[in-house]
Amino acid sequence: MAKFNWRGPKIILDYIKLYFNNCCIHGFRYIVKPMLIVFERSLWCALLVVSIYFCINVCLSSVDRYYTKSTHIGLERNYHFWNTTLPSLTVCPMQRLNDSLFSSYCRANGIKGQDKTEFWNFMENLANSTYTNFQNIPGSDNIDSILMNLGIKPEQYMELIYNLTFDSTYEPVEKLRTRSIDGQVNIHVRQVLTEYGLCYLGNSKLGKEYSSRYLIFGSYPEYNKYEHSRTLLEVQLGSFFEKDVSFTLLGFTSIAIDSYIHSAFEVMKVDNNFGYTDEGVVYDPESEEITAEENLETETSIRQRKCRFHHESNLTHFPIYTRNICQQECRINLAYRICKCIPHFYPNRISKPKTVCDYKTLKACFPKHSSFFLKLYEEHGKHEKPATCYCEQNCLDAVVTTKSALPMIGSKQLLGSIGSAISMKTWPQNRLKRQVIFSFSDLLVSIGGTAGLFLGFSVLGLVEFIYFFTMRLIWHIVGYKI
Ligand SMILES: *[C@@H]1O[C@H](CO)[C@@H](O)[C@H](O)[C@H]1NC(C)=O
Ligand SMILES: *[C@@H]1O[C@H](CO)[C@@H](O)[C@H](O)[C@H]1NC(C)=O
Ligand SMILES: *[C@@H]1O[C@H](CO)[C@@H](O)[C@H](O)[C@H]1NC(C)=O
Ligand SMILES: *[C@@H]1O[C@H](CO)[C@@H](O)[C@H](O)[C@H]1NC(C)=O
Ligand SMILES: *[C@@H]1O[C@H](CO)[C@@H](O)[C@H](O)[C@H]1NC(C)=O
Repeated sequence: MAKFNWRGPKIILDYIKLYFNNCCIHGFRYIVKPMLIVFERSLWCALLVVSIYFCINVCLSSVDRYYTKSTHIGLERNYHFWNTTLPSLTVCPMQRLNDSLFSSYCRANGIKGQDKTEFWNFMENLANSTYTNFQNIPGSDNIDSILMNLGIKPEQYMELIYNLTFDSTYEPVEKLRTRSIDGQVNIHVRQVLTEYGLCYLGNSKLGKEYSSRYLIFGSYPEYNKYEHSRTLLEVQLGSFFEKDVSFTLLGFTSIAIDSYIHSAFEVMKVDNNFGYTDEGVVYDPESEEITAEENLETETSIRQRKCRFHHESNLTHFPIYTRNICQQECRINLAYRICKCIPHFYPNRISKPKTVCDYKTLKACFPKHSSFFLKLYEEHGKHEKPATCYCEQNCLDAVVTTKSALPMIGSKQLLGSIGSAISMKTWPQNRLKRQVIFSFSDLLVSIGGTAGLFLGFSVLGLVEFIYFFTMRLIWHIVGYKI
Protein backbone atom coordinates (compact mmCIF):
# COMPACT_ATOMS: atom_id res chain seq x y z
CA MET A 1 0.00 0.00 0.00
CA ALA A 2 1.21 3.50 -0.91
CA LYS A 3 2.92 5.34 1.86
CA PHE A 4 1.13 8.48 3.06
CA ASN A 5 2.41 11.63 1.29
CA TRP A 6 1.12 14.94 -0.01
CA ARG A 7 1.24 14.39 -3.74
CA GLY A 8 -2.38 15.53 -4.12
CA PRO A 9 -4.47 13.93 -6.91
CA LYS A 10 -2.27 10.87 -7.16
CA ILE A 11 -3.06 9.87 -3.65
CA ILE A 12 -6.79 10.22 -4.26
CA LEU A 13 -6.54 8.18 -7.44
CA ASP A 14 -4.62 5.52 -5.58
CA TYR A 15 -7.23 5.39 -2.93
CA ILE A 16 -10.03 5.00 -5.45
CA LYS A 17 -7.96 2.29 -7.10
CA LEU A 18 -7.75 0.60 -3.75
CA TYR A 19 -11.53 0.74 -3.47
CA PHE A 20 -11.98 -0.66 -6.97
CA ASN A 21 -9.68 -3.52 -6.09
CA ASN A 22 -11.56 -4.41 -2.98
CA CYS A 23 -15.12 -3.47 -3.70
CA CYS A 24 -18.04 -5.69 -4.22
CA ILE A 25 -19.10 -4.53 -7.69
CA HIS A 26 -17.60 -7.16 -9.85
CA GLY A 27 -16.29 -5.45 -12.98
CA PHE A 28 -14.47 -2.66 -11.12
CA ARG A 29 -11.31 -4.56 -10.28
CA TYR A 30 -10.49 -5.35 -13.90
CA ILE A 31 -10.33 -1.66 -14.72
CA VAL A 32 -7.47 -1.15 -12.31
CA LYS A 33 -5.69 -4.53 -12.63
CA PRO A 34 -2.19 -3.56 -13.80
CA MET A 35 -1.63 -6.86 -15.65
CA LEU A 36 -4.43 -6.39 -18.19
CA ILE A 37 -3.83 -4.67 -21.48
CA VAL A 38 -5.55 -1.38 -22.29
CA PHE A 39 -8.02 -3.02 -24.66
CA GLU A 40 -9.34 -5.35 -21.99
CA ARG A 41 -9.56 -2.56 -19.50
CA SER A 42 -11.54 -0.33 -21.82
CA LEU A 43 -13.87 -3.22 -22.67
CA TRP A 44 -14.61 -3.70 -18.99
CA CYS A 45 -15.04 0.02 -18.61
CA ALA A 46 -17.57 0.13 -21.45
CA LEU A 47 -19.45 -2.85 -20.03
CA LEU A 48 -19.62 -1.12 -16.68
CA VAL A 49 -20.93 2.09 -18.19
CA VAL A 50 -23.62 0.20 -20.08
CA SER A 51 -24.62 -1.74 -16.97
CA ILE A 52 -24.83 1.38 -14.86
CA TYR A 53 -26.85 3.12 -17.56
CA PHE A 54 -29.43 0.34 -17.72
CA CYS A 55 -29.49 -0.01 -13.98
CA ILE A 56 -30.34 3.68 -13.52
CA ASN A 57 -32.86 3.53 -16.33
CA VAL A 58 -34.75 0.57 -14.90
CA CYS A 59 -34.61 2.03 -11.39
CA LEU A 60 -36.09 5.31 -12.63
CA SER A 61 -38.91 3.47 -14.33
CA SER A 62 -39.62 1.64 -11.06
CA VAL A 63 -39.73 4.96 -9.24
CA ASP A 64 -42.08 6.31 -11.87
CA ARG A 65 -44.28 3.26 -11.52
CA TYR A 66 -44.33 3.76 -7.76
CA TYR A 67 -45.47 7.35 -8.09
CA THR A 68 -47.97 7.04 -10.90
CA LYS A 69 -49.19 3.48 -11.25
CA SER A 70 -48.95 2.01 -7.78
CA THR A 71 -52.71 1.60 -7.27
CA HIS A 72 -55.41 0.22 -9.42
CA ILE A 73 -59.11 -0.44 -9.23
CA GLY A 74 -60.12 -4.08 -9.25
CA LEU A 75 -63.47 -5.74 -9.60
CA GLU A 76 -64.90 -7.94 -6.87
CA ARG A 77 -67.63 -10.45 -7.59
CA ASN A 78 -68.14 -12.43 -4.37
CA TYR A 79 -71.31 -10.50 -3.65
CA HIS A 80 -72.80 -12.99 -1.22
CA PHE A 81 -70.69 -11.62 1.58
CA TRP A 82 -71.01 -7.89 1.22
CA ASN A 83 -72.85 -5.39 3.33
CA THR A 84 -74.01 -2.58 1.07
CA THR A 85 -74.68 0.84 2.54
CA LEU A 86 -78.01 2.29 1.52
CA PRO A 87 -77.88 5.70 -0.18
CA SER A 88 -78.41 8.91 1.80
CA LEU A 89 -81.39 11.16 1.72
CA THR A 90 -81.25 14.92 2.08
CA VAL A 91 -84.61 16.57 2.57
CA CYS A 92 -85.15 20.34 2.53
CA PRO A 93 -88.39 21.61 4.03
CA MET A 94 -89.90 24.27 1.79
CA GLN A 95 -91.06 26.31 4.73
CA ARG A 96 -87.91 27.36 6.44
CA LEU A 97 -88.47 29.60 9.45
CA ASN A 98 -90.28 28.80 12.64
CA ASP A 99 -93.29 31.07 13.36
CA SER A 100 -92.80 31.23 17.08
CA LEU A 101 -89.06 31.88 16.93
CA PHE A 102 -89.68 34.60 14.35
CA SER A 103 -92.45 36.17 16.42
CA SER A 104 -90.34 36.33 19.54
CA TYR A 105 -87.44 37.79 17.56
CA CYS A 106 -89.79 40.49 16.19
CA ARG A 107 -91.22 41.14 19.63
CA ALA A 108 -87.75 41.56 21.09
CA ASN A 109 -86.79 43.97 18.33
CA GLY A 110 -90.05 45.89 18.05
CA ILE A 111 -91.05 44.85 14.53
CA LYS A 112 -94.80 44.93 14.11
CA GLY A 113 -97.66 44.83 11.63
CA GLN A 114 -96.85 45.34 7.97
CA ASP A 115 -93.11 45.42 8.66
CA LYS A 116 -93.29 42.01 10.28
CA THR A 117 -95.07 40.45 7.29
CA GLU A 118 -92.64 42.02 4.88
CA PHE A 119 -89.63 40.97 6.94
CA TRP A 120 -90.96 37.41 7.25
CA ASN A 121 -91.39 37.23 3.51
CA PHE A 122 -87.87 38.50 2.97
CA MET A 123 -86.22 36.16 5.47
CA GLU A 124 -88.21 33.13 4.30
CA ASN A 125 -87.13 33.68 0.72
CA LEU A 126 -83.54 34.38 1.72
CA ALA A 127 -83.48 31.12 3.67
CA ASN A 128 -85.01 29.34 0.68
CA SER A 129 -82.62 30.82 -1.88
CA THR A 130 -80.18 28.98 -4.06
CA TYR A 131 -78.61 29.52 -7.47
CA THR A 132 -81.90 28.96 -9.29
CA ASN A 133 -84.10 31.38 -7.38
CA PHE A 134 -82.09 34.35 -6.13
CA GLN A 135 -84.29 36.59 -8.26
CA ASN A 136 -87.31 35.76 -6.05
CA ILE A 137 -85.90 37.49 -2.97
CA PRO A 138 -88.22 40.45 -2.34
CA GLY A 139 -86.50 43.72 -1.63
CA SER A 140 -87.63 47.24 -0.80
CA ASP A 141 -86.48 50.36 0.97
CA ASN A 142 -88.49 49.19 3.94
CA ILE A 143 -86.50 45.93 4.14
CA ASP A 144 -83.29 47.95 3.94
CA SER A 145 -84.31 50.12 6.83
CA ILE A 146 -85.43 47.12 8.93
CA LEU A 147 -82.09 45.41 8.31
CA MET A 148 -80.25 48.61 9.15
CA ASN A 149 -82.17 49.11 12.39
CA LEU A 150 -81.44 45.54 13.40
CA GLY A 151 -77.80 45.96 12.43
CA ILE A 152 -77.90 42.82 10.25
CA LYS A 153 -74.97 42.74 7.86
CA PRO A 154 -74.73 40.15 5.07
CA GLU A 155 -72.17 38.23 7.17
CA GLN A 156 -74.95 37.61 9.68
CA TYR A 157 -77.66 36.45 7.26
CA MET A 158 -76.93 32.79 7.84
CA GLU A 159 -76.59 33.14 11.57
CA LEU A 160 -79.95 34.89 11.74
CA ILE A 161 -81.57 32.24 9.54
CA TYR A 162 -80.08 29.58 11.80
CA ASN A 163 -81.44 31.37 14.88
CA LEU A 164 -84.92 31.61 13.38
CA THR A 165 -84.99 27.97 12.23
CA PHE A 166 -85.98 25.27 14.63
CA ASP A 167 -83.86 22.13 14.37
CA SER A 168 -86.78 19.71 14.30
CA THR A 169 -84.62 16.68 15.09
CA TYR A 170 -84.80 17.97 18.70
CA GLU A 171 -88.62 18.23 18.75
CA PRO A 172 -89.94 16.49 21.89
CA VAL A 173 -93.18 15.27 20.31
CA GLU A 174 -92.29 12.12 18.41
CA LYS A 175 -94.89 12.55 15.67
CA LEU A 176 -93.53 15.97 14.72
CA ARG A 177 -89.86 15.16 15.12
CA THR A 178 -87.67 14.89 12.06
CA ARG A 179 -86.37 11.37 12.33
CA SER A 180 -85.24 8.52 10.20
CA ILE A 181 -86.64 5.13 11.04
CA ASP A 182 -86.84 1.57 9.94
CA GLY A 183 -89.40 -0.17 12.14
CA GLN A 184 -88.12 0.17 15.70
CA VAL A 185 -84.61 1.28 14.71
CA ASN A 186 -83.49 4.91 14.51
CA ILE A 187 -81.01 6.01 11.88
CA HIS A 188 -78.98 9.13 12.57
CA VAL A 189 -80.34 12.37 11.11
CA ARG A 190 -78.77 15.79 11.35
CA GLN A 191 -79.43 19.31 10.23
CA VAL A 192 -76.89 20.31 7.59
CA LEU A 193 -75.90 23.49 5.81
CA THR A 194 -76.23 22.98 2.09
CA GLU A 195 -76.27 25.18 -0.96
CA TYR A 196 -80.03 25.12 -0.54
CA GLY A 197 -80.05 26.40 3.03
CA LEU A 198 -80.67 24.30 6.12
CA CYS A 199 -81.78 20.77 5.28
CA TYR A 200 -81.82 17.37 6.95
CA LEU A 201 -79.47 14.54 6.08
CA GLY A 202 -80.12 10.94 7.03
CA ASN A 203 -78.08 7.74 6.64
CA SER A 204 -74.73 9.34 6.01
CA LYS A 205 -71.17 8.10 6.46
CA LEU A 206 -69.83 11.65 6.82
CA GLY A 207 -68.44 12.79 10.16
CA LYS A 208 -70.01 15.16 12.67
CA GLU A 209 -68.16 18.08 11.06
CA TYR A 210 -70.72 18.00 8.30
CA SER A 211 -73.55 19.55 10.30
CA SER A 212 -75.07 23.01 10.30
CA ARG A 213 -73.80 23.86 13.76
CA TYR A 214 -70.22 22.90 13.02
CA LEU A 215 -70.09 24.68 9.67
CA ILE A 216 -71.65 27.91 10.98
CA PHE A 217 -70.32 28.10 14.54
CA GLY A 218 -67.52 25.54 14.69
CA SER A 219 -69.04 23.47 17.50
CA TYR A 220 -70.35 19.94 17.30
CA PRO A 221 -74.12 19.31 17.43
CA GLU A 222 -75.65 18.75 20.84
CA TYR A 223 -76.37 15.25 22.07
CA ASN A 224 -79.80 14.19 20.85
CA LYS A 225 -81.44 12.16 23.60
CA TYR A 226 -84.52 11.42 21.48
CA GLU A 227 -82.47 9.68 18.84
CA HIS A 228 -80.74 7.53 21.42
CA SER A 229 -84.04 6.41 22.94
CA ARG A 230 -83.96 3.38 20.63
CA THR A 231 -81.26 1.44 18.82
CA LEU A 232 -79.38 4.02 16.78
CA LEU A 233 -77.59 3.16 13.56
CA GLU A 234 -75.18 5.41 11.74
CA VAL A 235 -76.22 3.92 8.41
CA GLN A 236 -78.57 1.23 7.23
CA LEU A 237 -76.82 -1.79 5.71
CA GLY A 238 -78.23 -4.53 3.54
CA SER A 239 -76.86 -7.73 2.16
CA PHE A 240 -77.66 -10.16 -0.60
CA PHE A 241 -79.82 -12.33 1.63
CA GLU A 242 -82.25 -9.57 2.48
CA LYS A 243 -85.17 -8.92 0.20
CA ASP A 244 -86.06 -5.36 0.90
CA VAL A 245 -84.18 -2.95 3.15
CA SER A 246 -85.58 0.50 3.64
CA PHE A 247 -85.75 3.55 5.83
CA THR A 248 -87.97 6.62 5.95
CA LEU A 249 -86.85 10.15 6.72
CA LEU A 250 -90.01 11.84 7.95
CA GLY A 251 -91.41 14.36 10.36
CA PHE A 252 -91.69 17.40 8.11
CA THR A 253 -94.62 19.55 9.01
CA SER A 254 -94.04 22.16 6.31
CA ILE A 255 -96.35 22.30 3.32
CA ALA A 256 -93.83 20.79 0.95
CA ILE A 257 -90.35 19.31 0.75
CA ASP A 258 -87.61 18.82 -1.78
CA SER A 259 -85.68 15.53 -1.69
CA TYR A 260 -82.23 14.53 -2.83
CA ILE A 261 -80.86 11.01 -3.03
CA HIS A 262 -77.11 10.53 -3.15
CA SER A 263 -74.32 8.21 -2.10
CA ALA A 264 -73.85 7.79 1.66
CA PHE A 265 -70.25 8.96 1.20
CA GLU A 266 -71.25 12.21 -0.48
CA VAL A 267 -73.31 15.34 0.00
CA MET A 268 -76.17 16.38 -2.19
CA LYS A 269 -75.80 18.26 -5.43
CA VAL A 270 -78.14 21.20 -5.48
CA ASP A 271 -79.22 20.78 -9.11
CA ASN A 272 -79.93 17.07 -8.72
CA ASN A 273 -83.23 17.22 -6.86
CA PHE A 274 -86.59 15.60 -7.18
CA GLY A 275 -88.31 18.99 -7.01
CA TYR A 276 -90.98 20.65 -4.96
CA THR A 277 -93.50 18.04 -3.73
CA ASP A 278 -96.24 18.21 -1.16
CA GLU A 279 -96.06 14.44 -0.78
CA GLY A 280 -92.89 12.55 -0.02
CA VAL A 281 -90.95 10.47 -2.53
CA VAL A 282 -90.16 6.75 -2.43
CA TYR A 283 -86.94 5.88 -4.18
CA ASP A 284 -85.93 2.48 -5.47
CA PRO A 285 -82.20 2.88 -6.03
CA GLU A 286 -79.31 0.73 -7.15
CA SER A 287 -75.91 1.30 -5.67
CA GLU A 288 -72.47 0.14 -6.71
CA GLU A 289 -69.79 0.73 -4.14
CA ILE A 290 -66.15 1.63 -4.47
CA THR A 291 -64.19 0.33 -1.50
CA ALA A 292 -60.53 0.42 -0.62
CA GLU A 293 -58.05 -2.05 0.77
CA GLU A 294 -57.10 -1.34 4.38
CA ASN A 295 -53.52 -0.50 3.54
CA LEU A 296 -54.45 2.01 0.84
CA GLU A 297 -54.53 4.95 3.21
CA THR A 298 -51.26 4.20 4.99
CA GLU A 299 -49.18 2.95 2.09
CA THR A 300 -49.94 5.56 -0.54
CA SER A 301 -50.03 9.31 -0.73
CA ILE A 302 -52.93 11.30 -2.17
CA ARG A 303 -50.94 12.01 -5.30
CA GLN A 304 -50.32 8.30 -5.85
CA ARG A 305 -53.85 7.07 -5.32
CA LYS A 306 -55.52 10.12 -6.87
CA CYS A 307 -58.34 10.06 -4.36
CA ARG A 308 -59.03 11.52 -0.94
CA PHE A 309 -60.57 10.19 2.24
CA HIS A 310 -63.08 12.42 4.05
CA HIS A 311 -60.61 13.56 6.67
CA GLU A 312 -57.93 14.53 4.13
CA SER A 313 -59.44 17.87 3.27
CA ASN A 314 -57.25 20.54 1.71
CA LEU A 315 -60.26 22.80 1.18
CA THR A 316 -60.34 26.27 2.63
CA HIS A 317 -63.96 26.58 3.70
CA PHE A 318 -64.77 23.01 4.66
CA PRO A 319 -63.26 20.74 7.31
CA ILE A 320 -64.07 17.56 5.38
CA TYR A 321 -63.52 16.45 1.84
CA THR A 322 -65.91 14.98 -0.66
CA ARG A 323 -65.96 15.56 -4.37
CA ASN A 324 -69.18 17.54 -4.32
CA ILE A 325 -67.93 19.69 -1.45
CA CYS A 326 -64.79 20.36 -3.46
CA GLN A 327 -66.99 21.48 -6.33
CA GLN A 328 -68.88 23.74 -3.94
CA GLU A 329 -65.57 25.33 -3.13
CA CYS A 330 -64.91 25.81 -6.83
CA ARG A 331 -68.28 27.54 -7.00
CA ILE A 332 -67.32 29.76 -4.06
CA ASN A 333 -64.15 30.81 -5.84
CA LEU A 334 -65.98 31.39 -9.09
CA ALA A 335 -68.71 33.46 -7.43
CA TYR A 336 -66.09 35.44 -5.60
CA ARG A 337 -64.29 36.19 -8.82
CA ILE A 338 -67.34 37.15 -10.84
CA CYS A 339 -69.62 38.78 -8.29
CA LYS A 340 -66.87 39.81 -5.80
CA CYS A 341 -68.70 38.17 -2.92
CA ILE A 342 -70.05 34.75 -1.90
CA PRO A 343 -73.63 33.71 -1.02
CA HIS A 344 -74.52 33.50 2.67
CA PHE A 345 -75.10 29.71 2.70
CA TYR A 346 -71.41 28.81 2.59
CA PRO A 347 -69.33 28.28 5.71
CA ASN A 348 -66.97 31.22 6.03
CA ARG A 349 -65.05 30.51 9.21
CA ILE A 350 -61.59 31.05 7.75
CA SER A 351 -58.74 33.32 8.66
CA LYS A 352 -59.61 35.89 6.01
CA PRO A 353 -63.39 35.53 5.56
CA LYS A 354 -64.62 36.37 2.09
CA THR A 355 -67.16 39.16 1.67
CA VAL A 356 -70.72 37.86 1.86
CA CYS A 357 -73.16 39.19 -0.74
CA ASP A 358 -76.01 41.41 0.37
CA TYR A 359 -79.36 40.44 -1.06
CA LYS A 360 -79.19 43.09 -3.78
CA THR A 361 -76.01 41.61 -5.22
CA LEU A 362 -77.57 38.15 -5.02
CA LYS A 363 -80.46 39.42 -7.12
CA ALA A 364 -78.39 41.48 -9.52
CA CYS A 365 -75.31 39.39 -10.23
CA PHE A 366 -76.14 35.73 -9.68
CA PRO A 367 -79.21 34.97 -11.83
CA LYS A 368 -77.48 35.81 -15.09
CA HIS A 369 -74.60 33.45 -14.35
CA SER A 370 -76.60 30.73 -12.59
CA SER A 371 -76.06 27.95 -15.11
CA PHE A 372 -72.35 28.73 -15.23
CA PHE A 373 -72.13 28.53 -11.44
CA LEU A 374 -74.03 25.27 -11.27
CA LYS A 375 -72.20 23.49 -14.06
CA LEU A 376 -68.85 25.21 -13.44
CA TYR A 377 -68.33 25.67 -17.15
CA GLU A 378 -70.12 27.39 -19.97
CA GLU A 379 -71.28 25.77 -23.15
CA HIS A 380 -70.27 28.65 -25.38
CA GLY A 381 -67.25 29.29 -23.23
CA LYS A 382 -66.71 32.98 -22.68
CA HIS A 383 -65.08 32.05 -19.44
CA GLU A 384 -62.99 28.96 -18.87
CA LYS A 385 -62.69 25.28 -19.63
CA PRO A 386 -64.31 22.60 -17.49
CA ALA A 387 -60.89 21.50 -16.31
CA THR A 388 -60.24 24.70 -14.35
CA CYS A 389 -61.79 23.19 -11.26
CA TYR A 390 -60.05 19.93 -10.47
CA CYS A 391 -61.48 17.77 -7.71
CA GLU A 392 -60.12 14.40 -6.72
CA GLN A 393 -62.46 11.44 -6.36
CA ASN A 394 -63.57 10.07 -3.00
CA CYS A 395 -61.60 6.98 -2.08
CA LEU A 396 -64.77 5.45 -0.68
CA ASP A 397 -67.88 6.11 -2.67
CA ALA A 398 -70.94 4.62 -4.28
CA VAL A 399 -72.57 5.17 -7.62
CA VAL A 400 -76.28 5.53 -7.01
CA THR A 401 -78.82 5.22 -9.78
CA THR A 402 -82.55 5.42 -9.17
CA LYS A 403 -84.70 2.88 -10.92
CA SER A 404 -87.86 4.65 -9.84
CA ALA A 405 -88.90 7.63 -7.74
CA LEU A 406 -92.61 7.75 -7.00
CA PRO A 407 -94.63 10.17 -4.90
CA MET A 408 -95.62 8.67 -1.54
CA ILE A 409 -99.34 9.19 -1.89
CA GLY A 410 -101.36 9.64 1.28
CA SER A 411 -98.32 9.71 3.52
CA LYS A 412 -99.53 12.79 5.36
CA GLN A 413 -102.68 11.05 6.58
CA LEU A 414 -100.82 7.84 7.32
CA LEU A 415 -97.77 9.19 9.10
CA GLY A 416 -99.00 12.56 10.33
CA SER A 417 -96.20 14.36 8.50
CA ILE A 418 -94.43 14.17 5.18
CA GLY A 419 -91.10 12.61 4.37
CA SER A 420 -89.23 10.55 1.84
CA ALA A 421 -88.14 6.93 1.83
CA ILE A 422 -85.56 4.67 0.28
CA SER A 423 -86.44 1.09 -0.34
CA MET A 424 -83.71 -1.03 -1.84
CA LYS A 425 -84.73 -4.29 -3.48
CA THR A 426 -81.81 -5.28 -5.64
CA TRP A 427 -78.25 -5.69 -4.48
CA PRO A 428 -75.13 -5.02 -6.46
CA GLN A 429 -73.23 -7.97 -7.91
CA ASN A 430 -70.11 -5.99 -8.70
CA ARG A 431 -68.00 -3.89 -6.46
CA LEU A 432 -64.90 -1.90 -7.22
CA LYS A 433 -61.91 -2.02 -4.92
CA ARG A 434 -58.94 0.32 -4.83
CA GLN A 435 -55.83 -1.76 -4.32
CA VAL A 436 -52.15 -1.15 -3.81
CA ILE A 437 -50.24 -3.17 -6.39
CA PHE A 438 -46.81 -1.59 -6.00
CA SER A 439 -45.99 -0.53 -2.46
CA PHE A 440 -42.87 1.09 -1.03
CA SER A 441 -41.37 -2.28 -0.10
CA ASP A 442 -42.01 -3.44 -3.66
CA LEU A 443 -40.09 -0.38 -4.83
CA LEU A 444 -37.14 -1.23 -2.59
CA VAL A 445 -37.11 -4.83 -3.77
CA SER A 446 -37.32 -3.70 -7.35
CA ILE A 447 -34.45 -1.22 -7.06
CA GLY A 448 -32.37 -3.68 -5.07
CA GLY A 449 -33.08 -6.44 -7.58
CA THR A 450 -32.15 -4.19 -10.49
CA ALA A 451 -28.91 -3.10 -8.87
CA GLY A 452 -28.15 -6.71 -8.03
CA LEU A 453 -28.90 -7.88 -11.54
CA PHE A 454 -26.83 -5.27 -13.35
CA LEU A 455 -24.03 -4.56 -10.88
CA GLY A 456 -24.07 -7.26 -8.23
CA PHE A 457 -24.64 -4.43 -5.80
CA SER A 458 -26.31 -4.92 -2.41
CA VAL A 459 -27.08 -3.08 0.81
CA LEU A 460 -23.89 -4.37 2.37
CA GLY A 461 -22.03 -3.13 -0.70
CA LEU A 462 -23.44 0.33 -0.05
CA VAL A 463 -22.39 0.13 3.58
CA GLU A 464 -18.95 -0.91 2.46
CA PHE A 465 -18.75 2.04 0.10
CA ILE A 466 -19.62 4.44 2.90
CA TYR A 467 -17.23 2.72 5.25
CA PHE A 468 -14.42 2.85 2.71
CA PHE A 469 -14.72 6.59 2.18
CA THR A 470 -15.24 7.57 5.82
CA MET A 471 -13.72 5.45 8.54
CA ARG A 472 -11.19 3.60 6.45
CA LEU A 473 -10.16 6.87 4.76
CA ILE A 474 -9.45 8.37 8.16
CA TRP A 475 -7.32 5.35 9.14
CA HIS A 476 -5.56 5.69 5.83
CA ILE A 477 -4.84 9.37 6.34
CA VAL A 478 -3.67 8.84 9.89
CA GLY A 479 -1.30 6.26 8.46
CA TYR A 480 -2.53 2.88 9.59
CA LYS A 481 -2.16 0.12 7.10
CA ILE A 482 -5.12 -2.19 6.80
C1 LIG B 1 -72.45 -7.18 7.82
O1 LIG B 1 -73.32 -6.68 8.82
C2 LIG B 1 -73.62 -7.60 9.85
C3 LIG B 1 -74.65 -6.98 10.76
O2 LIG B 1 -74.60 -5.61 10.76
C4 LIG B 1 -72.34 -7.96 10.57
O3 LIG B 1 -72.61 -8.90 11.59
C5 LIG B 1 -71.35 -8.56 9.59
O4 LIG B 1 -70.12 -8.83 10.22
C6 LIG B 1 -71.12 -7.60 8.42
N1 LIG B 1 -70.32 -8.28 7.42
C7 LIG B 1 -69.23 -7.72 6.87
C8 LIG B 1 -68.53 -8.54 5.84
O5 LIG B 1 -68.85 -6.62 7.16
C1 LIG C 1 -91.04 26.18 16.48
O1 LIG C 1 -90.09 26.13 17.55
C2 LIG C 1 -90.59 25.69 18.79
C3 LIG C 1 -89.45 25.72 19.80
O2 LIG C 1 -88.83 26.96 19.78
C4 LIG C 1 -91.13 24.26 18.66
O3 LIG C 1 -91.66 23.83 19.89
C5 LIG C 1 -92.21 24.24 17.58
O4 LIG C 1 -92.65 22.91 17.39
C6 LIG C 1 -91.64 24.77 16.28
N1 LIG C 1 -92.68 24.83 15.28
C7 LIG C 1 -92.59 24.14 14.15
C8 LIG C 1 -93.73 24.32 13.20
O5 LIG C 1 -91.66 23.43 13.89
C1 LIG D 1 -88.59 27.84 -2.20
O1 LIG D 1 -87.95 27.61 -3.45
C2 LIG D 1 -88.62 26.69 -4.29
C3 LIG D 1 -87.77 26.48 -5.52
O2 LIG D 1 -87.34 27.66 -6.07
C4 LIG D 1 -90.01 27.23 -4.62
O3 LIG D 1 -90.69 26.29 -5.44
C5 LIG D 1 -90.77 27.42 -3.32
O4 LIG D 1 -92.05 28.01 -3.59
C6 LIG D 1 -90.00 28.34 -2.39
N1 LIG D 1 -90.66 28.38 -1.11
C7 LIG D 1 -91.17 29.49 -0.61
C8 LIG D 1 -91.84 29.40 0.70
O5 LIG D 1 -91.09 30.55 -1.21
C1 LIG E 1 -78.10 34.05 17.21
O1 LIG E 1 -78.21 33.47 18.50
C2 LIG E 1 -77.02 33.56 19.28
C3 LIG E 1 -77.24 32.81 20.57
O2 LIG E 1 -78.55 32.87 21.00
C4 LIG E 1 -76.70 35.03 19.52
O3 LIG E 1 -75.50 35.14 20.27
C5 LIG E 1 -76.50 35.72 18.17
O4 LIG E 1 -76.26 37.11 18.35
C6 LIG E 1 -77.73 35.53 17.30
N1 LIG E 1 -77.42 36.07 15.99
C7 LIG E 1 -78.18 36.96 15.37
C8 LIG E 1 -77.71 37.41 14.02
O5 LIG E 1 -79.20 37.37 15.83
C1 LIG F 1 -56.10 20.55 -3.14
O1 LIG F 1 -55.29 19.60 -3.80
C2 LIG F 1 -55.45 19.54 -5.21
C3 LIG F 1 -54.53 18.50 -5.77
O2 LIG F 1 -54.38 17.42 -4.91
C4 LIG F 1 -55.12 20.89 -5.84
O3 LIG F 1 -55.36 20.84 -7.23
C5 LIG F 1 -55.99 21.95 -5.20
O4 LIG F 1 -55.63 23.21 -5.69
C6 LIG F 1 -55.84 21.94 -3.69
N1 LIG F 1 -56.78 22.90 -3.12
C7 LIG F 1 -56.43 23.85 -2.27
C8 LIG F 1 -57.50 24.76 -1.81
O5 LIG F 1 -55.28 23.97 -1.89
